Amino acid sequence: DHINWYPGHMKKTKDLLRDSLKLIDIVVELLDSRIPRSSKNPDIDTIINNKPKLVLMNKSDLGNEEGNRIWKKHLENENTKVMFVNAHSPKDGARITKEIQSILKDKIEERKAKGIKNVTVRAMIVGIPNVGKSTLINSLSGRKGAKTGNRPGVTKGKQWIKLKGNIELLDTPGILWPKFEDQEVAMNLGFTGAIKDEVLDIETLALRLIERLISIDSAVLEDRYGIEISEGQSPLGVMDTIALARGAVARNKEIDYTRVANMVLDEFRKGVLGRITLELPERE
Ligand code: G4P
Repeated sequence: DHINWYPGHMKKTKDLLRDSLKLIDIVVELLDSRIPRSSKNPDIDTIINNKPKLVLMNKSDLGNEEGNRIWKKHLENENTKVMFVNAHSPKDGARITKEIQSILKDKIEERKAKGIKNVTVRAMIVGIPNVGKSTLINSLSGRKGAKTGNRPGVTKGKQWIKLKGNIELLDTPGILWPKFEDQEVAMNLGFTGAIKDEVLDIETLALRLIERLISIDSAVLEDRYGIEISEGQSPLGVMDTIALARGAVARNKEIDYTRVANMVLDEFRKGVLGRITLELPERE
């Protein structure tokens, strides 16, 4: 589910999105709760213009509770409703459909007043790769397995999935590009697995993650690996300590950096290291 974006590709995606927008009443934008800024497509708000939008902070089970609270306060305003969700959760699915109806309440009433029976509203899900779009579509529709296509944008033959509460959902999500020009963003996307490991050298990526985790809260690493991190210890020193604690050592007694790197990244991504929000809103 990783895509190499190039300018022509982005233009095509934009055009397809604009086509789909004509058919829908609301955009459901998925962000990753651990990296709400880095997982946001830079152009989406311009593309959707004035269309109503619901922001879903997905993978909220992996974000830190305090971080989730701070982001909600930062992002929510009169025109933007922000919900923290877990795409796997049916309970959250019910909250989402309710919220969509609530946001579109006036529009629904208007159509009813015009004598339209069984007013349905149409929604589409958008977001960068790996943010949980397919999981959410499957969960909302009660269907299992079938991963939706990984082609960017949306396909032309449109299929609608009927949800509870007279909502129809476009069965193909809008796959958007991330803000990959920014180094910090690229790192965050790498840490969470939103961009391919091969794009970034895995050992460097893990080293940078360790550096970040030390600055957020070194207890995260200390508790998980049963190590002690001394004041001013270098990230590489910490990586070595983790490797030794976990026996990530080759026959010749040298540290197996690939192994320790994969382990730390994998454990972070699965939430084994705890609930960690990697970025907070910038202070104004
Ligand atoms: P995409 O369509 O936007 O590309 O994302 P997709 O639904 O494929 O989800 C990417 C990964 O994120 C999947 O894990 C999925 O299970 C996981 N995921 C989605 N939503 C949530 C959430 O709210 N919380 C958590 N913890 N994980 C979530 P995977 O390992 O690639 O696949 P699998 O384990 O589901 O087989």
